[in-house]
Amino acid sequence: MKKLFIANWKMKLNLRESRDLAQKYLSFYQRAGLQGLPAQAGKLDVAVAPTSIYFPEVRSVFNNLIPLSSQDVSAFGNGAYTGEISASALTEFGCRYAIIGHSERRINVNETDLLIKKKISQCAENKIIPVLCVGETEAERKKGDTDTVILKQLHGALENQDCFPGTELVIAYEPVWAIGSGNAVTPDVLQNVARLIKRGVSGMFTEKFFDDKVRIIYGGSADAKNAAEILAVTHINGLLVGTASLNAKEFFEILTLVK
Ligand code: PGA
Repeated sequence: MKKLFIANWKMKLNLRESRDLAQKYLSFYQRAGLQGLPAQAGKLDVAVAPTSIYFPEVRSVFNNLIPLSSQDVSAFGNGAYTGEISASALTEFGCRYAIIGHSERRINVNETDLLIKKKISQCAENKIIPVLCVGETEAERKKGDTDTVILKQLHGALENQDCFPGTELVIAYEPVWAIGSGNAVTPDVLQNVARLIKRGVSGMFTEKFFDDKVRIIYGGSADAKNAAEILAVTHINGLLVGTASLNAKEFFEILTLVK
């Protein structure tokens, strides 16, 4: 499967800054980016996740060349859900992916596995590829609970989801302690977690589903310096990039590392 790189701009930019950064992405895409990198062309998918009310602006800068991802989605379909953004509304703005269950949402607004599960169903119904985030906190890691936490999050979000194996799925391993810390995971730890995720997903569905439709990506202080060794890990098929994605040059440098 193609490697996937999602730039998660979080809530860090205002409208002008989002537009400016989108413009820089577009220049890299056109000059030094995907079209200028024959070795990479056809080997990777890229998406950008800006603040959702800026979708129309960013989309018009990208001119449909770079797809969008949302940073979240409602667990509900259309209806009386004040403040929510439905998956169907996201598709109207050309949104191809939705980040779901990011630790910043699990922690700051208490998102539960059950809610996350419903969000995945909404994505599947609306043909948006869900990017399910899983990962342990520093305290959980210190207690040796990494595997247990990840398996619980995977089962909580995916078990008995009848959209699978029909629908594509992205799982982002994002250790909470690594996010925004400048310290990415080491390749050996990442290797163990990737194997665990593969076992977990194959066990709930089939190995064929995992091989054909599931991509594991990594997020947490991924940057141009550490991307090559992270991408060399078996079963790791891309990156979810926060801080480093705010620098267009660095983000596109990461893309050139795809072999
Ligand atoms: P970071 O964020 O790259 O700044 O660590 C990644 C993320 O939270 O998706």
